[in-house]
Amino acid sequence: MTMLTIEGVPLNEIAKKVGTPCYIYSRALIENNWKAFEKSHYKICYAVKANSNLGILNLFANKNAGFDIVSQGELERVLAAGGNPKNIVFSGVGKTKEEIKCALQVGIYSFNVESWPELERIQEIAQLMNKKAPVTLRVNPNIDAKTHPYIATGLHHNKFGIELKEITHLKSYSHIDLIGLGCHIGSQIMDLEPFGEAIDCLLNLAKKINSIKILNLGGGLGIQYKDEKPPSIKEYLSFIEQKLKDQPYEIILEPGRSLVGNAGILLTKVEYIKETPYKNFAILDAGMNDLIRPALYDAWHNIIPVTLHTDIKPKLYDLVGPVCETGDFFAHDRELAIKPDDLLAISTVGAYGASMSSNYNSRPSIAEVLVDKDEFYILRERESYQDLFAKEKLNGLYVNG
Ligand SMILES: Cc1ncc(COP(=O)(O)O)c(C=O)c1O
Repeated sequence: MTMLTIEGVPLNEIAKKVGTPCYIYSRALIENNWKAFEKSHYKICYAVKANSNLGILNLFANKNAGFDIVSQGELERVLAAGGNPKNIVFSGVGKTKEEIKCALQVGIYSFNVESWPELERIQEIAQLMNKKAPVTLRVNPNIDAKTHPYIATGLHHNKFGIELKEITHLKSYSHIDLIGLGCHIGSQIMDLEPFGEAIDCLLNLAKKINSIKILNLGGGLGIQYKDEKPPSIKEYLSFIEQKLKDQPYEIILEPGRSLVGNAGILLTKVEYIKETPYKNFAILDAGMNDLIRPALYDAWHNIIPVTLHTDIKPKLYDLVGPVCETGDFFAHDRELAIKPDDLLAISTVGAYGASMSSNYNSRPSIAEVLVDKDEFYILRERESYQDLFAKEKLNGLYVNG
């Protein structure tokens, strides 16, 4: 019988102390990814949405990383984690007045502006606050990133960015400092070509606007989940360096998945083995509310038994959760030798795992753990049932009077 470990720490030991399901992250893997990006000397703004746990953000803050945020919630998280507001870029199509005000107040590095009405709104608020807002226009370059349609963001019919053709005669604003151009064409991108097209597009446009000092190339570098062959971080960076040789611009990158994706697993326990004439199901204690990627994108994750049995014959299983939805699955037809109470590690879930989780079916948020050398630390405690409905009232709150 062999036992799966993460950096030498047996997974069953973590399960014993923390319970299942839980997310487990490797500090060493995150730091390796960071080191690879850091070599570029570009401004690396970690995309907080990929994994917004305070402990993970603190890890990046300690490296003096930048942050790419999309809400005031993410801003508050970055500040609480010790991030420097001067290293924050603010993306997102729906920034509220409150969010813009708050970002101006703390003095972020730049707003990634996604529409003309947003630019007008920032101008109005900056004027009222007597501040000058640093702005990067996010361009929609109509480039096909050749990825899942739900994570393609650079095409005409996507809601993101400003139409390239509309950026011709730029109005000047008294309280806007137009410092940059940017784009983010999608996520889990496997080819360098679309990145190259995006760079060409930004360079062409930047030449026509005097005030541009910054090019923000967004995130999007893919990682390996199954047998994909994404470019390494090093290959991606040298491709960009080559394309931007002798260009005068400061370069910003916003990687999310490629910094944390491969550094996390979801540890779960087999509750039941249910065999029917049509299918064998392994029913796990983790559900789609904990990890929604398979249900949302039909994403493939490797699933590894923590204990290897030699006395059980492998069978084909659908690995499913306890949530009352047929979409509540992690994998179909996987050959595994497993029995009830076995632990399984669902791999490559460091990005868009915990950060996309919910309380659906009134399931409390699960614990998150960081393995650092041969120790492990709880970065987020499992939510209690009291936490789950602490904000709810039996009779409602009287508010109108
Ligand atoms: C504006 C922006 N920047 C960066 C990212 C991070 O992308 P990825 O995790 O693919 O690197 C995203 C993700 O969707 C995004 O919307």
